[in-house]
Amino acid sequence: MHGLRILDVQPTALSELLGANDRAVAVIVTGIVVFVGYLAVRPKVPFISVSYAHLDRFDYDQAGILAVQLTIVVKAENDNAKAHAYFYDASFILGFHGLEIAKLVADPFDVSKNDSVQFDYLVQSTPIPLDELEQNLVELSLRQNLIAFDLKGKARTRWRVGVIGSVKFSLNLNCELKFFINGSSTNSHCSSRSK
Ligand SMILES: *[C@@H]1O[C@H](CO)[C@@H](O)[C@H](O)[C@H]1NC(C)=O
Ligand SMILES: *[C@@H]1O[C@H](CO)[C@@H](O)[C@H](O)[C@H]1NC(C)=O
Repeated sequence: MHGLRILDVQPTALSELLGANDRAVAVIVTGIVVFVGYLAVRPKVPFISVSYAHLDRFDYDQAGILAVQLTIVVKAENDNAKAHAYFYDASFILGFHGLEIAKLVADPFDVSKNDSVQFDYLVQSTPIPLDELEQNLVELSLRQNLIAFDLKGKARTRWRVGVIGSVKFSLNLNCELKFFINGSSTNSHCSSRSK
């Protein structure tokens, strides 16, 4: 009798165990399908980069007032041959040694398959009164013929591909834009894709 009671109990436990295994198998199969789909499509994470930057004006006077103008071209690139990319929440802060110069934003936009979109920003600062430390920094930059700004921000992107569904990415931009006094960029690499 003892044995029967044990047999009574076991099937439930066993089926529960099997049920759990089925779910595990289902999860693994889904994982494999998604992974195979991923390999078949060979998706590339869309990215943003600065394709052109120029320091148009860098006016600094004896009273310690700074005014700048920059042209910055931000490129959003989608190297996927099979999926459109949708970019949204794009927002970047242009700073100069801790001073916020401008916020660069873009409305949500689409980038077609294997395509890119460029955004031209003309940034004109208001005259900025600098404190002594900042004035020293500016004078040092001018002496060294190297003026550095930083560009930091984020954008989000997502694309939709068959079995994979909608895939989202968060893109981070965090780089230094360096210029000679003549305005030319020193061609520093600035991209959300690390190289
Ligand atoms: C993607 O575009 C490049 C040129 O921009 C072209 O050489 C390439 O063949 C294109 N690839 C596909 C799959 O369309
Ligand atoms: C700007 O200055 C740099 C360094 O002095 C020089 O290499 C570059 O050719 C200059 N660019 C222009 C457009 O004059």
